[in-house]
Amino acid sequence: MATIFSGIQPTNTPTLGNYLGALKNFAPLQDENDCYFCIVDQHAITVPQDRLKLKQNIRSLAALYLACGIDPEKSTLFIQSEVPAHSQMAWMLQCVSYIGELERMTQFKDKSRGKEAVTAGLLTYPPLMAADILLYGTDMVPVGDDQKQHMELTRNLAERFNRKYNDIFTVPDVYIPPVGARIMSLVEPTKKMSKSDENQKATILVLDDEKQIVKKIKSATTDSDQSIRYDKAEKPGVSNLLDIFSLCSGKSIDQLVAEYDGKGYGDFKEAVAESVVKTLKPIQNTYYDLLESEKLDDILDAGAEKANRVAQTTLKKAERAMGLGRGKR
Ligand code: TYM
Repeated sequence: MATIFSGIQPTNTPTLGNYLGALKNFAPLQDENDCYFCIVDQHAITVPQDRLKLKQNIRSLAALYLACGIDPEKSTLFIQSEVPAHSQMAWMLQCVSYIGELERMTQFKDKSRGKEAVTAGLLTYPPLMAADILLYGTDMVPVGDDQKQHMELTRNLAERFNRKYNDIFTVPDVYIPPVGARIMSLVEPTKKMSKSDENQKATILVLDDEKQIVKKIKSATTDSDQSIRYDKAEKPGVSNLLDIFSLCSGKSIDQLVAEYDGKGYGDFKEAVAESVVKTLKPIQNTYYDLLESEKLDDILDAGAEKANRVAQTTLKKAERAMGLGRGKR
């Protein structure tokens, strides 16, 4: 049985990209593995957040995890800030991280570019992510393509700590799905679909209703060539829609290309939208049932308790290895 860890930031509503690149892949892992799924609220505050909105988003994300099939009997679902070992371990890992390697992270560069005031948290975000993962002895981390660099750093930090102090951390592997790891913006299909995109047409949110989904997909950028083929360089818009369609319908890209051969973009987009609605509708129904239920708090309480227990054990080992405190008492 392998240990799996993944996290999602409670900033805005997750996008179809978050769902297809990450969330969708979590539930199938639960039967065979020891899984931890985290609402990483401490990551969210690396950029300014409205406190009431953040609170809402945390609850909403917990309900969404469950609506996407996370079973609290099988997996541990918890909120990062309710397990203090994460920030404690993050500090220790900051002390084995180099400023140069943190400054090289593309996400840091993207989020800080042109900004006058950049928080220190934005720079030291990757050691916090490494702490999340390493506290649980994680073997494998399922994420989208944009987290590859952070995962490489996590592996480096684990190896560096093990070499310098003691062999405490498992060095985790990353799992990036073959299709869907990088769902693109519907408006600028050479750019990643992102929760923080200011253009609402660029992003499908997992809680969008049928009308919104149909409207956004119908207005998605394609090209003037009118042929439905998979070619990321020449036809990024159509290829992105094919990725989405394939993942939502369960049909292969080749199958869809053959099916829509000779058909126009109008028919194609209508079918893509229908498959997205069909995928998201049942999730939304379960989500709204769960959101106000007390069950949600019970699940998060139990998750925090289990996560605290496991994380404390690793934290203590790492503290002893570094020589912190008075050691074993
Ligand atoms: P976040 O909250 O930005 O995204 C959550 C997950 O969704 C994936 N993702 C995408 N996949 C495909 N296409 C897209 N357009 C797309 N956009 C996002 C992300 O790769 C991610 O898997 N740093 C992480 C959160 C985190 C974490 C962790 C993840 C904190 N600690 C420990 C794994 C393990 C982040 O900001 O994800």
